[in-house]
Order: sequence, then C-alpha cells, then structure tokens
Amino acid sequence: MTKIAVIVGSLSQKSINRHVANDILKHTPADVEIVPVQIGDLPLYTQDLDAVSIPAYDRVREQLATADAVLIVSPEHNRSTPAAVKNVIDIASRPYGQNSWQGKKVAVVTASPGAYGGINSGLHLRQVLQGVGANVLSAPEVYLSRASLEIDERTAGFLAKFATQFFHWAK
Ligand code: FNR
Repeated sequence: MTKIAVIVGSLSQKSINRHVANDILKHTPADVEIVPVQIGDLPLYTQDLDAVSIPAYDRVREQLATADAVLIVSPEHNRSTPAAVKNVIDIASRPYGQNSWQGKKVAVVTASPGAYGGINSGLHLRQVLQGVGANVLSAPEVYLSRASLEIDERTAGFLAKFATQFFHWAK
C-alpha cells in the first residue's frame, strides 16, 4: 500500500484549495492510502521545543516520515507560501538530524482566485522543499488561476491528468 500524506495549506473553512485537493483525491487508486495532515493546531516552531514533548508535532512528524510521498495544495498569502505551511515544513525538518523531508517525494499544487494561480507561493514552496532535501515533482506544474469552489469541466480534466501522473510517480 502506498501512503500519501496530504497537506492543505489553507486553514479556512471554505477553502478553495481544500476543494481542489478533494477533486484531485477523487482519482486516488485503490492501492493508495491517503493520510490527511492537519496543520492548524501546530504551535509555531522554535528549536527550544525540541526538548519538549508536543503530541501534535509527534503526529505530523510521524505522518510525514512514514509517507511514500506528500501532496501539498496551498494558497498564496502575500506573495508567498502561508505561514502554516512553512511552520509544518520547519517542524518536520527538526530536531537536527531527524529531517522527515530528506529524499521525500513531494508535489506542489497552488490555487488562487487571482490571475497568477498562486505561482509565487508554489515557487517559494519548491525552493524551501529543495532546501530541506525533498525530491520535488518538477512536472507537471499546477498553479491554478481563477480558482473557485466551482470546478469546471476543463479544470477537472486538467486536475485528473495531474492526479494520474502524480500517483504514478508516487508509487
Ligand atoms: C490572500 N490572497 C492572495 N491571493 C493571491 O493570488 N496572491 C496573494 O499574494 C494573496 N495574498 C493573500 C494574503 C492573505 C493573508 C489572504 C487571507 C489571502 C487571496 C487568496 O488567494 C484567497 O483568499 C483564496 O481563497 C485562498 O485560498 P483558500 O484559503 O480559499 O484555499
């Protein structure tokens, strides 16, 4: 069974990115297990916390360390990746020497109602993930512009194609 951890970068109840993630996950093959990684309850990381037991940290570190691949679907906040996404990346990169991202296959999707599809967020995320040693899926790239809670047929087809390629790569 291939295990895929999924991070949605938005904490919003009516998140467009969660909707996009769910649309991609409709195409999950039968032999793939999806592990949703909650990031909204994670205290902001500081290395002082390495000496303390934090169950929410243990949970996400374990989910990411044991995943065969990770899918991040995220909005853009002020021309970069949301703080909550950067926080989980930092948490799972530490304590020093226990970096859950090292060699991990990670795919990045961004979606925005704006014209640029959250591309700044997507490119920044790729840079950060490469910095922690992840194996980032280089293509296909998905920066979904004019995104909304209504996914039209053309977009659904595009996401289905991405899903097929992503799951094939993840296995
Ligand atoms: C945004 N949004 C936004 N959009 C964008 O394309 N580029 C940006 O730099 C920003 N900046 C930004 C900052 C903050 C603090 C918020 C809350 C929002 C708009 C954003 O794309 C929009 O709210 C989407 O609906 C976010 O995706 P979710 O949360 O619906 O998945």
